[in-house]
Amino acid sequence: MKKSIAIGLLGIAAFAVSCGPKSMAVTGPKFSSAEHLAQGKTVFENSCNRCHKLPDPAKHDNQGWIKTLSRMAPKAKLTDEQHQMVYDYLISVNKK
Ligand code: HEC
Repeated sequence: MKKSIAIGLLGIAAFAVSCGPKSMAVTGPKFSSAEHLAQGKTVFENSCNRCHKLPDPAKHDNQGWIKTLSRMAPKAKLTDEQHQMVYDYLISVNKK
């Protein structure tokens, strides 16, 4: 009996975590390795030109890309990690 209650509680905890607020929101730089930046570039080039031309990374400064990407990443259906890598790539080349 005790055991099944524990399992039930675990289930509830797992449910709460998976449905909780997205804690991975991009609020600043995280990745800086060449590998991550290259991946960010690839995701950017493949995902961000479907609805409009590929934007110029210099269009926004580091703060501006946080805002724009938080609107565009869901449109491009990026995972949180891809969102972060694209952000880090953009601010590595926007020279701002
Ligand atoms: C599903 C379509 C779609 C995808 C995919 C998409 N965008 Fe957009 N984007 C739009 C639309 C529509 C607008 C114009 C309306 C607006 O600004 O919300 C826009 C506008 C923009 C702008 C100009 C507005 C601003 O804030 O500067 C930038 C920059 C931009 N997108 C960047 C991106 C990046 C980076 C990606 C890849 C992560 C991306 N977009 C993927 C639809 C898309």
